[in-house]
Amino acid sequence: MFISIEEAIKKRKGKVNIRGWVYRERKQKDMAFLVLRDASNIIQCVVKQDKVSKKEWDDANKLLIESSLEIEGELREDKRAPTGYEIQVSKINVIQFADVFPIKKDQSPEFLMDNRHLWIRSRKLSAVMKIRSTVMKAFRDYYYNNGFYEMAPPIFTPTACEGGATLFEVKYFDKKAYLTQSWQLYAEAAIFALEKIFCISPCFRAERSKTSRHLAEFWMAEMEAAWYDLDKLIQSGEECVAYIVQRVVKENEAELILLGQDINKLKKIKAPFPRLKYSEVLKILKEKEKVNIPFGKDLRTIEEDLIMKHFDKPLIVTHYPKEIMAFYKQSDPKNPKEALCFDMLAPEGYGEIIGGSQRDTDINELKKWLKKGGEKLETYEWYFDTRKYGSVPHAGYGLGIERVVAWLCKLDNIKDAIPFPRTMLRYTP
Ligand code: 4AD
Ligand code: MG
Repeated sequence: MFISIEEAIKKRKGKVNIRGWVYRERKQKDMAFLVLRDASNIIQCVVKQDKVSKKEWDDANKLLIESSLEIEGELREDKRAPTGYEIQVSKINVIQFADVFPIKKDQSPEFLMDNRHLWIRSRKLSAVMKIRSTVMKAFRDYYYNNGFYEMAPPIFTPTACEGGATLFEVKYFDKKAYLTQSWQLYAEAAIFALEKIFCISPCFRAERSKTSRHLAEFWMAEMEAAWYDLDKLIQSGEECVAYIVQRVVKENEAELILLGQDINKLKKIKAPFPRLKYSEVLKILKEKEKVNIPFGKDLRTIEEDLIMKHFDKPLIVTHYPKEIMAFYKQSDPKNPKEALCFDMLAPEGYGEIIGGSQRDTDINELKKWLKKGGEKLETYEWYFDTRKYGSVPHAGYGLGIERVVAWLCKLDNIKDAIPFPRTMLRYTP
């Protein structure tokens, strides 16, 4: 029976059968050192010429990196081995002799991107993908535990949710359709059935910016709830993010260490998070950073980074100017120039990880702001129906999975937070 390398290491001694891929190999006259890799870990295996058959010894000497094989042997502790244990091999069964692996040490980021289908096997990307899996699982668990239903959104859509500028147009039989930018408008229809819902789904934006924070295809985790106001929404968002971080700390210690992340720093990420109004952010930028932003101008990456110098937890920024917000964001009755919305900014320059708001329930307001944005009202008729039949206050947010993963994994670029990144300049492999 085969066990994983991690299970073998946990056994600490005795006979084990493992299988995987050659991670490193070094040959001597009568000994071959193979470091084997599987999804769980790596382990050093020693093949001695006098301990295996002639065929097995010849095979071991032909093995190149990434060859696949099965091994039987005796496990024992060895402090010099990379993961502290070593297997004295008694049987080898090669499944496939790999060709010369094209990826060597110190290759350019472009080369690694071109060979993403192979680079995906690297320990770094494996660690990131494991953490990503925990992030998605934790988001789901948080909302299942709080009485939410998971709802599937459509991907082909007739309308923009986040403005026409970043829409991806696709041929839809003999018509035009767009790839979804967010599930939100459909979520707003579905809360009338289920009240509290969430989804995790791919989203598409034709972002022309070549930044380290934008992808053309990314995954958004979104929630929408009837009867929620801004306060309740923010609380849900901060508790969920804190829960995600603590799950990653608990379940991915080995991966965080491999990625060079400081676990103690993450342990401190607990709700509640600090909150500031947009106008207070402007004041701090002016007083502490000598940066003068007039009310009504969106915060750019540089301003977000400047304000985050003052925080080591995520920061909630509320009440952005209504004028520059998406059409559906409710304006504050106390000050209609401000919207009842929030962004959550991650520490250390990872930028906006959440955007959310209370939704406007006034059809005329919705129409006014859509028109201002140059949208065609006809395609939104179905959406206006959501305000005609038992309309209720409601709110929701979207969390960028890759932004969160980039932050938790301490990545230089968001491209490494998704297995096969799509950007303005790349949609292969
Ligand atoms: O702030 P955004 O645009 O909000 C919405 O789309 C709302 N409709 C969500 C909602 O209320 N249900 O996007 C939400 C989050 C951002 O905070 C960011 O983390 C991520 O999605 N995001 C991107 N991530 C990677 N690449 C891009 N091009 C992204 N655009 C947004
Ligand atoms: Mg946003």
